[in-house]
Amino acid sequence: MAEIKSKMVKNKDFLTLKDYSAHEIMHIIGLASKLKKDRNLYKELLKGKNIAMLFDKHSTRTRLSFEAGISQLGGNCIYLSSENLQMKRGETIEDSARMFGRYLDGLVIRTFAQKTVEAFAEHSGITVINGLTDTYHPCQALSDLFTIYDAGLLEKKLKFTYLGDCNNVSNSLMIGFAKLGLDITIGCSSKYEPAREILEYISGISQESGSRIILKYDPAEAVSGADIVYTDVWVSMGDAHSDEKIAELSKFQINEKLLAYASPDVKVMHCLPAHREMEITSEVLDGKHSIVWDQAENRLHAQKALLVFLYSG
Ligand code: CP
Repeated sequence: MAEIKSKMVKNKDFLTLKDYSAHEIMHIIGLASKLKKDRNLYKELLKGKNIAMLFDKHSTRTRLSFEAGISQLGGNCIYLSSENLQMKRGETIEDSARMFGRYLDGLVIRTFAQKTVEAFAEHSGITVINGLTDTYHPCQALSDLFTIYDAGLLEKKLKFTYLGDCNNVSNSLMIGFAKLGLDITIGCSSKYEPAREILEYISGISQESGSRIILKYDPAEAVSGADIVYTDVWVSMGDAHSDEKIAELSKFQINEKLLAYASPDVKVMHCLPAHREMEITSEVLDGKHSIVWDQAENRLHAQKALLVFLYSG
């Protein structure tokens, strides 16, 4: 979490939700809602524009939804695996970024360090979108806020519980919720709490927005009365497998027994990919409370909305 203190960037980029106001987030969510109803909207917005996707880590949803979304907006998408680039042989990020800026109109990056996406944004001069780093996954959180809005639940009285590992997804969800002035409950082990830097940042903005982060170490208490229960994998990409961590988090598995503590109409979210029978059972993932497939679809609409926001006007 060393890179967590992200510097301010102007809004030509989307590196972290820290850089976006509640008004901007809600504007993008409103655009996503329109784009979900009509996929032909803004279909020439990116005509003549080339946007590259530079991925250091695996991806299914992020890659596909950006590629489809850029195409639906009339743009051209170029997928780059870092394996084949000269950066792999030592060309610096700064030199690479300067080149990218001469050829491209935008760049979606999935990588390890947050400082890498910041360096690309600084040295390329083009729009850079964070497609996931070890610290943040802002596209996922933005899309999840849209999913909650689309389900009619994005309101002050929402009880939203995130369960399990505190990672890049929970970091971005906490920031998004705090920006919108909404409470978020985190059900986690005391050994794997949210990073102190994230809690401090959110405490700073929560005083203004009025939102709270509620930490619960007991899963039943965390889920009690929840309108939405959300989880993610317990071992993130790039992290070493740990039997100890999995055992520690096992009581936070979303299963029917735990879900009985939530609201009878509870919705279940998972950013996917899921490890079935680990952080969530198949019975729940495929069951009546699950909205994970809508959630996955909404990556397309939310990211198209983000592109419209970044490239309009
Ligand atoms: N949720 C998510 O980012 O999925 P991918 O890793 O498949 O892109």
